[in-house]
Amino acid sequence: MELREIDGPLLEQVLDDTYDLWGDGLSRKAYGLWNLAQMKTTWGKSNLARVGFVEGDRVVASAKRYLFDGVIGGQPARVLGIGAVLTPESHRGQGLAPKLIEAMIADGEARGCTVALLFSEIGADYYTRLGFTVVPRRMVTIDVPRTRRGAPATMVRAADPLDLPEISALSMTYAHDASFALIRTPDLIDFGITRRRLRAGLGPAGLRQVEVFVAEEGYRAAAFIIVSRGPEGVVLEDCGDRDPSGARIGALLEAYVERDPSQGDRTLRAWLPPGLHPPQVHLSAPFDAPEVMMVRHLPIRPPAHQVWWPLDMF
Ligand SMILES: CC(C)(COP(=O)(O)OP(=O)(O)OC[C@H]1O[C@@H](n2cnc3c(N)ncnc32)[C@H](O)[C@@H]1OP(=O)(O)O)[C@@H](O)C(=O)NCCC(=O)NCCS
Repeated sequence: MELREIDGPLLEQVLDDTYDLWGDGLSRKAYGLWNLAQMKTTWGKSNLARVGFVEGDRVVASAKRYLFDGVIGGQPARVLGIGAVLTPESHRGQGLAPKLIEAMIADGEARGCTVALLFSEIGADYYTRLGFTVVPRRMVTIDVPRTRRGAPATMVRAADPLDLPEISALSMTYAHDASFALIRTPDLIDFGITRRRLRAGLGPAGLRQVEVFVAEEGYRAAAFIIVSRGPEGVVLEDCGDRDPSGARIGALLEAYVERDPSQGDRTLRAWLPPGLHPPQVHLSAPFDAPEVMMVRHLPIRPPAHQVWWPLDMF
């Protein structure tokens, strides 16, 4: 069977098949719009596609293909991201998903990828059999204590698109000594924010919210936070600070929680680069991230430290 890109009526079929699992509280129509809009973003246009196998007029297995630029052990690398693998119920148990993954990896290799990456929602065993290895990812809970001072005196404002190059540069400072990191261009960060904002905007009013704040210094963003709130709780999707202590991130988090104390958003889930501990906040002991990150063909050996922000989760 030949791997092909899926669009038009066949894409609608895939959206019908995947809606129950990944509809995220959206209506079916909104789910379709959400998927299409992601592929129309600047980053999505050239790096995101739905691929699959088609038999007659039926898509019998499909997945999302992401093409990332990354750094592995200091060397540039193309990274194939595999998401939303699905075989419709009528065709399960015939080995179609493994064949699809092999075809995607062969196609990815032809595009210069040296690594395949996925997040398993069905545990590790299934993908271990297909040659993938778990990369441990640890998260923390951030508790932002109540201050008597109210919001801090840092220059805090909502971010706008002009901040993206600065946000990208701040983000890349954490990638320098990582064994594995994505090259997080302004377009990729914008894709992550847009994907979450679209889901919030297309969904029921008030269910989800995404906010991006920067701390300014001389008209430039010197620190930023991206925070989402939804049924899964409050997540610090991404952050960065020119100050290695992370003090501005701490001030941004204080401003975020003090802005609307009635929300009770004082506890956030986060991933933080090693050594980054904003002095104003309490961090829990690290715990295993709920999503199982797995790679194939990667020279990463646990417990090497990799950089993966929730914002880039697919
Ligand atoms: C998982 C899935 C893609 C497998 O597709 P497939 O084309 O049937 O692939 P296979 O023929 O290899 O699948 C059969 C195997 O899948 C395993 N499997 C199916 N669902 C599973 C689950 N939730 N957890 C663990 N294993 C699962 C079956 O146990 C079976 O294992 P076996 O070979 O030991 O009998 C398919 O079941 C599916 O679309 N599930 C719903 C979507 C999903 O969960 N996708 C994975 C997201 S990470």
